[in-house]
Amino acid sequence: MERTVVLIKPDAVKKGIIGKIITRLENAGFTMIAAKFLRLPEDLLDDWYAHHKDKSFFPELKTFMTSTPVMAILWEGKDVIKKVREICGPTDSRKAPKGTIRGDYGRDVQENAIHASQDAHAANKEMDLIFLPHEIHEYNR
Ligand code: RTP
Ligand code: MG
Repeated sequence: MERTVVLIKPDAVKKGIIGKIITRLENAGFTMIAAKFLRLPEDLLDDWYAHHKDKSFFPELKTFMTSTPVMAILWEGKDVIKKVREICGPTDSRKAPKGTIRGDYGRDVQENAIHASQDAHAANKEMDLIFLPHEIHEYNR
């Protein structure tokens, strides 16, 4: 079964909407198979956002992503990668439709409430960066 990695980002953690975001993904039928509340280490973020390393906003992005702990969740389900991205909405919260997580809870391109893996390659990489094999729990919902 397909898996994707979600991070509930510091802006959403500060707003106290971790539960609301989890509820949306549970209601969409996906299965939570691992979860961890952690402050992301700098070197992990260097790997996670390697594709943004040379961008002007990279230092600001790292400051934002380490400003509070984040809630990291591994979700499993059919087409979960694409469907969770749809539920999140586009990166820029100002362009995200109401009814999407970013449209309802995000503020701009950085404070956009949630991260979700963009494809299977990223999902595997991100899963390995956050979770150990024994922290992942398979079961049927
Ligand atoms: P994410 O990885 O967080 O799910 O977001 P995404 O795929 O929709 O967007 P991506 O291009 O991967 O960007 C990752 C995160 O970097 C920050 N960002 N800031 N200031 C800027 O122009 C800018 N562009 C991207 C955002 O926090 C974005 O979610
Ligand atoms: Mg991305």
